[in-house]
Amino acid sequence: MNKFDDSNLSQAPQHGGRLNAAAARYGIPREQWLDLSTGINPNGWPVPPLPAEVFSRLPEDDDGLQQAAVDYYGSADLLLLPGSQAAIQALPELRFAQSGASRTGVLHPAYAEHAFRWQQAGHRVLALTVEQIETRLNELDVLVLVNPCNPSGVTFSLQCLCRWHAELASRGGWLLVDEAFIDATPECSVIRDPMPEGLIVLRSLGKFFGLAGIRVGALCAQPAVLEPLSRRIGPWAIGHPARWIARQALSDTGWQQCMRAALAQQQVRLHTLLHKCFAVPVSSTALFATLFIEQANAIEQACAERGILVRRFDQPAALRFGLPGSEAQWQRLEQCLKEIQP
Ligand SMILES: Cc1ncc(COP(=O)(O)O)c(C=O)c1O
Repeated sequence: MNKFDDSNLSQAPQHGGRLNAAAARYGIPREQWLDLSTGINPNGWPVPPLPAEVFSRLPEDDDGLQQAAVDYYGSADLLLLPGSQAAIQALPELRFAQSGASRTGVLHPAYAEHAFRWQQAGHRVLALTVEQIETRLNELDVLVLVNPCNPSGVTFSLQCLCRWHAELASRGGWLLVDEAFIDATPECSVIRDPMPEGLIVLRSLGKFFGLAGIRVGALCAQPAVLEPLSRRIGPWAIGHPARWIARQALSDTGWQQCMRAALAQQQVRLHTLLHKCFAVPVSSTALFATLFIEQANAIEQACAERGILVRRFDQPAALRFGLPGSEAQWQRLEQCLKEIQP
């Protein structure tokens, strides 16, 4: 098990989607870019014109959003948040306030905000590969996983998650599962009704629904976790337009079913394309595919010179490709990869 050295965690992590910076760096106007640097669904839930009152009136708690979320996520132990990021930041502080500094194992590689926030809150953070989890679990108070994992595409079985949760919970520990990318395969979610002690699950409307800009997420956990977080987040944390959109999107089961089928096909297309071009291991989820390749830096540059923004990771060297949003964009990506493949 590796302790993250402080240099890794002293700065806030960088994220994909920084199109202005790419435009300035490569001298390509913003509107000419194909941004594949995030795992956000490019064909998200189609937002209709909004009623005028969502802009002029404060949102009300009993507007139907909570019930729509309970129905969609499958648990009444649920708190809506201004993005799951709000919980990623608040949970380490809550744990510290309730139980002091905890030995926290964080899956690595994974969405870097988790390790950063746990370390910032004063916990001892240990980077764990998938293989290390089983053998090191007995040393942990808290285990933080991302399922399916961004960016590695790794998934965890419900059986494993339940066993790890039971072990941690038996000594007052937490299993925190970030399910931001699970909506295309909801049967893999570990959410239960009611939520058991020590199990905390994060969800996001930013990925599958493609609604990253409205900043809505959800946290499922026992009231001992939900209530202090709810007090901390306070009233009107999610804006009225965002609440209105989230309620409709979570209730639109027809769109959700069609989207799951469409994403399954697109996942195969992207996975196959990358594997064919680079002949190295590719790991994919419904919303992105990650290529583990030594020349990640050079490929990122070559794509960027052609106006295609992808996301590079170091340690291990990898490139994550989000889904193109139209046939023209697929062809642009295919052409680009054909030109640059080794
Ligand atoms: C794995 C993972 N979890 C959570 C988040 C935060 O998402 P949001 O705050 O938009 O819900 C991200 C954002 O990229 C992510 O990749």
